[in-house]
Amino acid sequence: MAALGLVLKGSEAGPRFGIATSPAAPDAGPPMDPALTLSLTDLAATGRLAAALAGVAKRGDFIALYGPLGAGKTALARAFITARAAARGAPEETVPSPTFTLVQVYDFGGDEIWHFDLFRIGGWEETDELGLDEAVHGIALVEWPERLGPLLPKDRLDVSLDYGEGEVRTARIQAHGPWAARLPALSTALTHAGFAS
Ligand SMILES: Nc1ncnc2c1ncn2[C@@H]1O[C@H](COP(=O)(O)OP(=O)(O)OP(=O)(O)O)[C@@H](O)[C@H]1O
Ligand SMILES: [Mg+2]
Repeated sequence: MAALGLVLKGSEAGPRFGIATSPAAPDAGPPMDPALTLSLTDLAATGRLAAALAGVAKRGDFIALYGPLGAGKTALARAFITARAAARGAPEETVPSPTFTLVQVYDFGGDEIWHFDLFRIGGWEETDELGLDEAVHGIALVEWPERLGPLLPKDRLDVSLDYGEGEVRTARIQAHGPWAARLPALSTALTHAGFAS
């Protein structure tokens, strides 16, 4: 089992975290998926997390954005899309919430991002028309992924946001499948973004 603990202290904080691993006890059952925990002090911190994620994401990735209403899923997705566009030299564009359209697709020079908000769908049976199959050729950012039920991909990164005090949010990032091997790269990107333990 690998556990990563990161706390955002602001951009002045240095790279002081590491990857902690502990051997599983013989009777401990299946190993848990590795995870990172972050404290996001304000909207800008959520933006830095999003930019770090955008730096390591690649085609075929499925990033599930969990959290209650207003937790910051769209804010994170918006910053992710903006960072990805900037990295591709694409002109800045507005990133509307897909609350009513259910999905917004962006294409920055072959770099497709599919941003879903599934809050308003009744159930996974209603996702047929949304293009989830096509989204796997790009990067999928999915708000309210629990609506997908059995269609939720096994290989994915879960980002679970929750409320702290005021503007503070907590983020728990859990890797599933091949994402586990990519968490160290994400840790490095987070360090460069000013996160430290
Ligand atoms: N640290 C923070 N991270 C993200 N958003 C923050 C933070 N602090 C304050 N906010 C504010 O919280 C709100 C988050 O709204 P957002 O639409 O991103 O939530 P959501 O999780 O997508 O909600 P919904 O489930 O309705 O789609 C925004 O108004 C944003 O400015
Ligand atoms: Mg939203």
